[in-house]
Amino acid sequence: MAKPFLKWAGGKTQLLNVIENALPERITRQNFTYIEPFVGSGAVLFWMLRNFPNLERAIINDINEDLINTYKVIANNHQELVSILKEFQNEYHHLVNNEERKKMYFYNKRELFNARNLNIVDQAALFIFLNRTCFNGLYRVNRNNQFNVPIGSYKKPTICDTENLKAVSEVLQRVELLCGDYQQTLKFTAENNFFYFDPPYKPLSNTSSFNAYAKDEFNDIEQIRLRDFCSHLDTLGHHWMLSNSDVKGKDPNDNFFDDLYTDFFISRVSAKRSINANASKRGKLNELLITNYATEQAMQTA
Ligand SMILES: C[S@@+](CC[C@H](N)C(=O)[O-])C[C@H]1O[C@@H](n2cnc3c(N)ncnc32)[C@H](O)[C@@H]1O
Repeated sequence: MAKPFLKWAGGKTQLLNVIENALPERITRQNFTYIEPFVGSGAVLFWMLRNFPNLERAIINDINEDLINTYKVIANNHQELVSILKEFQNEYHHLVNNEERKKMYFYNKRELFNARNLNIVDQAALFIFLNRTCFNGLYRVNRNNQFNVPIGSYKKPTICDTENLKAVSEVLQRVELLCGDYQQTLKFTAENNFFYFDPPYKPLSNTSSFNAYAKDEFNDIEQIRLRDFCSHLDTLGHHWMLSNSDVKGKDPNDNFFDDLYTDFFISRVSAKRSINANASKRGKLNELLITNYATEQAMQTA
């Protein structure tokens, strides 16, 4: 049973049942192509692959090159990857009682990763190692694409989940992997397509760093460009669903998404966010689920 192999901000595991209830009916009845243009750790992708035998083809995309390379390595060289990760895990767990040497080990791996001069399998192993051992599993890079998250406080984190990597490798044989801007996914559509968009969320406060996944910020202009793309898909007859933060929940006068998606169906759902640097800010927040087809939830919200 393949599941996400990374911790990723905005992971959708807690929203799966809400997403399931809001799927377009046609999707669950016929063969279809699933397209996820902002895949991240792929919580929805793996769930879809598990639950829909009629999912004929899946196409995933992300702008993060290190992330998509890691998917590619799992798909094509997972055994080699596992053997490197096992070695990292043994070495790291050995240092459990030696904070200084553990730190040195982590920062040395981070430096190696940032040099970006190793082969794709080694880079993928370093990417997974850093994700499992860094502070809160965050992914943050500076303007020069240098990963800069400090060491986390996990004692013996799982760095190599052999069984899951094998399962992920198997299911990825059915998936096309793309790296770049989300708009390129349009070129890969077939007969019956379903798009699920989980873009970097609009921050709920100025200090919130939720959307710092890549070196380029996903600001309001980007949110508008995404809406334009969704409108275009709608005119072409494709089905889509999109998640975002409910800024109105924080400030009742903030109609940003209500105005932007006024031609579509908006539901407000409750979700628990687990990645937030500030523990007091973790907790229940509303999220938006927007679709270009009617759902029961959207009817209730309206
Ligand atoms: C909210 S996360 C997705 C979380 C994912 N659903 C999960 O379960 O982990 C948003 C993703 O969008 C990616 N991204 C940012 N800008 C992008 C762009 N212009 N095109 C494609 N992907 C982009 C980021 O790298 C990040 O992985």
